[in-house]
Amino acid sequence: MANHTPGFRWSEEKEKYIKELLRKHPDTSLRELADYFGISSNAVRKKIKKMGFTLRGLRAGEFFIEPESEPQEVEMSEVWSAYEKQNEIKIAKHKNDGRYIAEFPEEVIAVSFISDQHIAGNNIVALKRMREDAELIANTPGLYACLGGDSIDNHIKHRAAVLAARTTPGDQYELFDYYLSLFSDKILGVITGNHDDWTPQVSGTDVIASICAKHGISFSSDEARIAAYVGDQEYRLAWRHKYRFGSQMNQTHSPKQWYRFGPEPFDVGVVCHHHETAIEACIMHGKQTWVCRPGSYQINSSYGRQGGFNDSLPACPTFLLYPHHRRIIGFPDVRDAVITLNAERNQ
Ligand SMILES: [Fe+2]
Ligand SMILES: [Fe+2]
Repeated sequence: MANHTPGFRWSEEKEKYIKELLRKHPDTSLRELADYFGISSNAVRKKIKKMGFTLRGLRAGEFFIEPESEPQEVEMSEVWSAYEKQNEIKIAKHKNDGRYIAEFPEEVIAVSFISDQHIAGNNIVALKRMREDAELIANTPGLYACLGGDSIDNHIKHRAAVLAARTTPGDQYELFDYYLSLFSDKILGVITGNHDDWTPQVSGTDVIASICAKHGISFSSDEARIAAYVGDQEYRLAWRHKYRFGSQMNQTHSPKQWYRFGPEPFDVGVVCHHHETAIEACIMHGKQTWVCRPGSYQINSSYGRQGGFNDSLPACPTFLLYPHHRRIIGFPDVRDAVITLNAERNQ
């Protein structure tokens, strides 16, 4: 088609013209026909061949080129219907993404929300505290964790930040893999944050997802919800890395608006990302509902210092969940919660 002048189309009339002309004057040159139709000689030769006429040899100055096999025309309706089926599967998967049901024995448990680890070596990131918290969770019966994203610093979005980082994203993924291994049996789920998402955005490969899969940990991007049954008592836990309505004056404003504007209510709602910890019990639809933001193990960064942000507190808000009846007690950090959790379980 590329040889045709714009708008040119073969028609029965044109084919008839060629047929009659070649019958009467078999020596008609391709050039004559090409000039007549306003197309290239090569396009005329292809047409003549397709019409079943035996072609005479090439004349001086001519050439003929065609694909080895006839290119297959794909029907747009077939393309659409293939994508339509694929997209229906994508929608079904999307609706199901990040939704889990967890069952626990009939005894008091606690769930700790940990986020913004920003794992990086040779940097102002509290790896010691991160490891100690992970080991505390691993060694405390009935204590579990939900991870809220920005697991590694992975500063690939800004080239200057990559240059300033003392470890590469590859090194940081290896450290994250080790960190997960410290308490993988106690992690209910992992979601990604904006720093993690830069890798799939740039490369199409989600390394955090692969590492979680290796450890058998539930993974989803952005958000997760767990219907957690402690015995028969259901608690709806929801956490996401970012949400709208963020306020630097009131850190729990965003999770409260998530309850109001989100797709469904929760008993414990967590929004991460701000690196400034806060926890609040508030009344939502007549029920005491807990909202919080975890702190960050990244004590500060050049971005934070330039913006005048105070150092972060690596605090992981933790919630005790009771069996038999709806009772939730929140603590600003996992270390605070462990004392009461142990007391409750050792009664
Ligand atoms: Fe972060
Ligand atoms: Fe973030």
